[in-house]
Amino acid sequence: MSLPKVSVVGAGQVGATTAHLLALKGLADVTLIDIADGLAQGKALDLLQSAPIEGFRSHLAGTTDLGALSGSRLVVVTAGLPRKPGMSREDLLAANAAIVGPIADRIALDAADAVVIVVTNPLDVMVALVLQRTRFPRQRVLGMAGVLDSARLQTFVAQRLRVPPTEVQAMVLGSHGDLMVPVRGSIRVGDKAVTAVISDAELEQLFQRTRDGGAELVRLLKTGSAFYAPASSVVTMATAILKDTHAVLPVCVRLDGEYGLDDVCLGVPVQLGRGGAERVVEVTLTTGEREALVAAAKQITEMTRHLAALQPTDS
Ligand code: 2OP
Repeated sequence: MSLPKVSVVGAGQVGATTAHLLALKGLADVTLIDIADGLAQGKALDLLQSAPIEGFRSHLAGTTDLGALSGSRLVVVTAGLPRKPGMSREDLLAANAAIVGPIADRIALDAADAVVIVVTNPLDVMVALVLQRTRFPRQRVLGMAGVLDSARLQTFVAQRLRVPPTEVQAMVLGSHGDLMVPVRGSIRVGDKAVTAVISDAELEQLFQRTRDGGAELVRLLKTGSAFYAPASSVVTMATAILKDTHAVLPVCVRLDGEYGLDDVCLGVPVQLGRGGAERVVEVTLTTGEREALVAAAKQITEMTRHLAALQPTDS
């Protein structure tokens, strides 16, 4: 049986690690695409040479040509500049829009039926940009952030309690930035609510470390941003889509009235399947969490408008 084709645009650390995981898990044939001559070709060839050792049957190819998007079931967009120490994700807005916009145009042209997972920052605004430029239905343009932010919170809670991270459940919604919204009621350790084992004040510190989770890594790495956990997060979403599992994951998607919010791309729980987003799941939030979600929506709307003002108008 042939494997579905996944194209990964951007063969940097996140893109290449995503390709590696997709191959190791036998999920897809992968085409890596990067503007830098030789980078995608080299990484794809290197990955392919691990196939006889690892025993995977995925085919991997690399190219500079966006025409290779053709036939993709799924396109992952990682292209763009990563943050440097001291930069916010928002500082990347204009530079990354100039990279992602034309890629979205090519996706619309060459992979018109694909589901798209956007990874480039500032994430929520890049999802809005890809949605606008591809004119795809909202079900097929998704952003990866909530799975990563939730995994970071799970990890910090697990470290604090000295339990394996897999025993902790947590969900982080909102924007992939300072206004992310950890959902207190979603955090469970085994069968216990987290509030039974960690004080509110301490939990608040773990929330703040989660909000700063990307920046903490940028500071440590110095020449780039996180990639192992981001790639695992992309592949978790890709699995739900390619295997049609109907898993509910925190994903950035355009809201059409859910959570009382309209026409804004934001992280919320979404059921994923073959066609992308099958349904936005509305979970119970506290008043504070609702207000935080509205504040995040407001910030994203403002940034999206600011970006629209920078873009050439459609003719
Ligand atoms: C992060 O949070 C890269 O935005 C990504 O690490």
